[in-house]
Amino acid sequence: MIVPHPLVLRGQRIQLRPVQGSDLPHLRSLWANRHVMSHVGYPKGIRLSKDKVAAWFSGLYRDCDLSVNPYRMVVTDYDGHFLGEACIGQLSREGISTLEVKLLPAHWGKGYGRETLALLVHYCFVHLRIPALQAAPAITNLRAIRMVEALGFESTGETYDWVPPRALRKTAVPYQYTLFTLPRARYAERSATSETQPFSAIQATAPTAP
Ligand SMILES: CC(C)(COP(=O)(O)OP(=O)(O)OC[C@H]1O[C@@H](n2cnc3c(N)ncnc32)[C@H](O)[C@@H]1OP(=O)(O)O)[C@@H](O)C(=O)NCCC(=O)NCCS
Repeated sequence: MIVPHPLVLRGQRIQLRPVQGSDLPHLRSLWANRHVMSHVGYPKGIRLSKDKVAAWFSGLYRDCDLSVNPYRMVVTDYDGHFLGEACIGQLSREGISTLEVKLLPAHWGKGYGRETLALLVHYCFVHLRIPALQAAPAITNLRAIRMVEALGFESTGETYDWVPPRALRKTAVPYQYTLFTLPRARYAERSATSETQPFSAIQATAPTAP
């Protein structure tokens, strides 16, 4: 399933767009931030060199096929301020994608997380026709759990252990997460009832290829 790169999703207050070279210092700060990364197993953040991040960026959009790669975007406001990153995860064998959002703490608690997730969900279901989406917040990450529940994701009730790969054991720690799922049919049902669709005004638009 190919994402039509470059993809831009426009919300009421924010937009999601492909990563640009000028975003790399902001992404390094985001990944180094312990308040952000402690929720995903890195209590001290991840410090990556400029060269490492530049090498990562050079291959980022080489293949925009969700069957083999995730599709990563940055989140900005309409003044162009960097707020964080968003990701449509690589498809599982069942064709399911796990969505991820990470914002800088200065921008938490203003509804940007929900708006970002709403754009991703809308795009994945309406444009990509992905059959179901997942999210995997740590069981202690109440803010992220509230965010995914607001979009209609429901807990499977099962808890899993995230164990860091051996190479990352110095910086990463294990944590427990719950899987939340949202099948496309449930999203369509919710969208049909205006009272249960808080983001009806949001338009997700993909530009045509340049
Ligand atoms: C998770 C994250 C993206 C949420 O973004 P955000 O912009 O702060 O989220 P929102 O403002 O849309 O708020 C989400 C919900 O959390 C609630 N919330 C805020 N602070 C909270 C707290 N301390 N405990 C519980 N819920 C809280 C908000 O009230 C809101 O729920 P509501 O809309 O029902 O009132 C952001 O906090 C973040 O980047 N965290 C670090 C990385 C991370 O955990 N990513 C998710 C991995 S699955």
